[in-house]
Amino acid sequence: MDVDAQKRAAGEAAAALVQSGMVVGLGTGSCAAWFVRALAARKLDIVGVPTSEATAQLASSLGIRLGELGETKTIDLTIDGADEIGPGLALIKGAGGALLREKLVWEASRSCVVIAEAAKPVKILGGRYPLPIEVAAFGHKTTHARICDALAECEIGIVPILRRKDGQPVRTDNGNLIYDAACGRIEEPAALAAALKSVTGVVDHGLFLDLADRALIGTADGGVMELEP
Ligand code: A5P
Repeated sequence: MDVDAQKRAAGEAAAALVQSGMVVGLGTGSCAAWFVRALAARKLDIVGVPTSEATAQLASSLGIRLGELGETKTIDLTIDGADEIGPGLALIKGAGGALLREKLVWEASRSCVVIAEAAKPVKILGGRYPLPIEVAAFGHKTTHARICDALAECEIGIVPILRRKDGQPVRTDNGNLIYDAACGRIEEPAALAAALKSVTGVVDHGLFLDLADRALIGTADGGVMELEP
């Protein structure tokens, strides 16, 4: 099964978890898009809380009723993709740039399920995808220098790169910038998460720790494997 079929299988398995009456957090990215399509096809009476403008557009084009974070009853279940899935279901997210809204929605949810293809589980975080760090645009070069210090404190001696598209700095849905930190090995994710959050100007980072309740992974043989923390 190719990668897209694996993502689709995971997305469809996740859509089967949703029941009428739920408020559902809608993730961002290609795997989450398969989930949103499968969910829309079920025509349930639900309210979706999107984690990005892109997901809001997709979901509403497919007829899913949308609500804003904080304006609905508590989110029952959030389904979203990830870039790396580490031990204990610690995650790196944010390759698509939606990390802040994603984390806000995840943290407001009773339960969160991460969905992905078979290549996403890793033994240690940081080796395949850079860790995205969303920063306020104002003074971002100063913030960058402080991020380098925070990384060094965690014995990660790298310099994060400002994310660009077509030569221009990428702006998130929130108007912020992203620095990508190719950490290599994140030995202590919780310590790194705390160090980054302590930097003024850092809005958030893509480490999602102790948030995922389960993972549904589409496998090469066409099945879906379940992982727990
Ligand atoms: C979006 O900002 C990300 O957190 C995505 O959820 C993550 O990059 C996974 O995306 P794919 O499912 O497209 O790999």
